[in-house]
Parts: sequence; structure tokens; C-alpha cells
Amino acid sequence: MAAPRLTVAVIGAGTIGLSFAALHLAKNPTCNVKIYDTRSDLSEYVGDKLCEYLVDADVEECKSRVQIAESLVKAVENADIVQEQGPENADFKQTTWAQIEQLAPQGALFWSSTSGIPASEQSKDMKDQSRLVVVHPYNPPHIMPLLEVVPSPATSQEVIDRTLEYWRSLGRVPVLIRKECTGFVANRLAFALFREACSLVAQGVVDVEDLDSVVQASMGPRWTVAGPFKSYHAGGGEGGLSSFMDKIGGTVQECWNASDRDVEAGNIGVGQSWQEDVCRQTDEAYGVVDTAQRDKKTKAVLKAVSQ
Ligand SMILES: NC(=O)c1ccc[n+]([C@@H]2O[C@H](COP(=O)([O-])OP(=O)(O)OC[C@H]3O[C@@H](n4cnc5c(N)ncnc54)[C@H](O)[C@@H]3O)[C@@H](O)[C@H]2O)c1
Repeated sequence: MAAPRLTVAVIGAGTIGLSFAALHLAKNPTCNVKIYDTRSDLSEYVGDKLCEYLVDADVEECKSRVQIAESLVKAVENADIVQEQGPENADFKQTTWAQIEQLAPQGALFWSSTSGIPASEQSKDMKDQSRLVVVHPYNPPHIMPLLEVVPSPATSQEVIDRTLEYWRSLGRVPVLIRKECTGFVANRLAFALFREACSLVAQGVVDVEDLDSVVQASMGPRWTVAGPFKSYHAGGGEGGLSSFMDKIGGTVQECWNASDRDVEAGNIGVGQSWQEDVCRQTDEAYGVVDTAQRDKKTKAVLKAVSQ
């Protein structure tokens, strides 16, 4: 399907805002993007930084479709989509959506990129709470295809459908999250693995670099072609996941019990004694990470698995 011609208002132009602006511009050649942020140097900043996100796109052509908005009113007054990625703060989001609702056209879609403030909380002061839905990216959204679409109980089906449709038309992977829950799904999974990673390093089972090697040489490549259910279903042979659970279930349970014991013992909470050492090890191992190199490799992997 051809990408729709429309105006996207990007509210908040930090890490996520610029990445989303670049994504719309690069994937939807007929859209215009208006950018609003309270930074005093917004024009220079966007002029300098946006090109870093416009990888593989015609930078000048994309930039010709960008407008810097001097106020929230100007940003949203004729928007088809208003996409918010300002500070992660409930008061800010509640006040901003109540204002936007008064200023934007009636049919405009309202999306928040929040990592954890549900639409039901953000829409508290809106007159029509059916208009807001969370569209949570996996950073950086101009590279990562996933968008977690998380409605509140009040979000209308029409808003959900139009949101899913838009992202599919841009070739992304929107996934509808059926219930609001802490951290949505991607971060719940990623942070569960991260807790185990911190725990194993803290216990001296492996060091930081070896832990990373384990993931990069096993689950990393596997999970780009099949998620955990499909992987273990395949791992069970003809009997699929049931057979896998019959054969390996005992080990699975022992691992889960061991993790539970670590958590119950209170050894692995954020800010506890293990954290300083694990952060120091990570600093020593990697210093400042070259994210441009990371993104280039990630793009190559995504291209390979799409073939
Ligand atoms: N960084 C991530 O990995 C990540 C991933 C997914 C979702 N998110 C979510 O995206 C949102 C933004 O995160 P970020 O990492 O881009 O933060 P950021 O600090 O890089 O950007 C926030 C931007 O909002 C601007 N801002 C502040 N007050 C404003 C106002 N009143 N109106 C308009 N703009 C204002 C700031 O100047 C800044 O440029 C948060 O809700 C966060 O939870 C972040």
C-alpha cells in the first residue's frame, strides 16, 4: 500500500523524537514533519543532528519536508498525527495531552512514545480519552522495526486500527499489547534477561564481556529468526513445545527456582552492592560505545533476516 500523505507533529526532539522524525521522513516520502521542542537552539540542533538519523535517505530532500514549530499550537494545528516524546513525567504528559486535544484537528491521531506511563494515566485530563494510544518504540526507532501499540481501556478501536495500519504501511512491525502492564512486553523480556545477566556477573559465574559473548553467539542470532516460543517448539522436535517441556522442563524449573532464590535473597535489586562493580567492569570493557557502528550492523542483520 502507498504510504499516506500527511503531516506529523513531533513533540519533543531528543533521542527518540529525532529518530522518529527521520523514520517518518525516510519511509513516508509524502509526509511533512513539524518539530516542536522547548530547546532554545532547536533550529540549529535539528539542522545539525537530524542527518545522523537519516541513514540511507536523501538527506536534503528529507530536510525540505521539515518545519520547525515555534510553539505547540503551531506544531499541532493542522497535524494528522501528533507524536509525543517529551520528558518521562506524568504531569508533563497529562498537561500536554489536555492542551493538544484543544489545539489539534478532530481526527488527528495522538501517540505517546512513553516507556512506562500508560495511556490511561496520561489521558486523565483529556475530555476524550478515546483518542490517545501509546506507541512505544524499541530504541532507536529509525532502525528497530518494533512498535508496541498499547491502548488504554478507553482508546477507540478506530484509533488502534489506524495506528496499526499506518505503521504497517511504512513496513514496520506494530504489535498490539492487549492490556496495559508495567514496562509493556519488550522491556519486560529484555530486563528479565538483564537481571539474570547482572546476577550471574555479580556471583562471579562469568565476567561482563563473556556474558555478552554468550548472548551474541547464541540467543542473539537465534532470536532474529525465531522468538522463544518458535525456537523451543523447534527444539522439541516432532512433538514441538510439549515435547521440549517434557524433556527439558526439569532444567527449566531448576533455572527458574535458582533465579527466584536470588531475588528472594534480595541480592539483585537496583542500587545494591553488586551494581557498582558490574558498572565498573562494563565501563572498563567498553568505554564509550560506537552507536553508529552498532546501528550499521543491526541494519545489516535486519536486512539479512528479511530476505
Ligand atoms: N531513550 C530511550 O531509549 C527511549 C526508548 C523508548 C521510549 N522512550 C520514551 O521517549 C520519551 C523521550 O525520551 P528521550 O530519551 O528521547 O528523552 P530526551 O531527554 O532525549 O528528549 C526529551 C526532549 O523533550 C524536550 N522537552 C522538554 N520539555 C518539553 C516540552 N514542554 N515540550 C516539548 N518538548 C520538551 C527536551 O528538550 C528534549 O529534547 C520518554 O517518554 C521516554 O520514556 C525513550
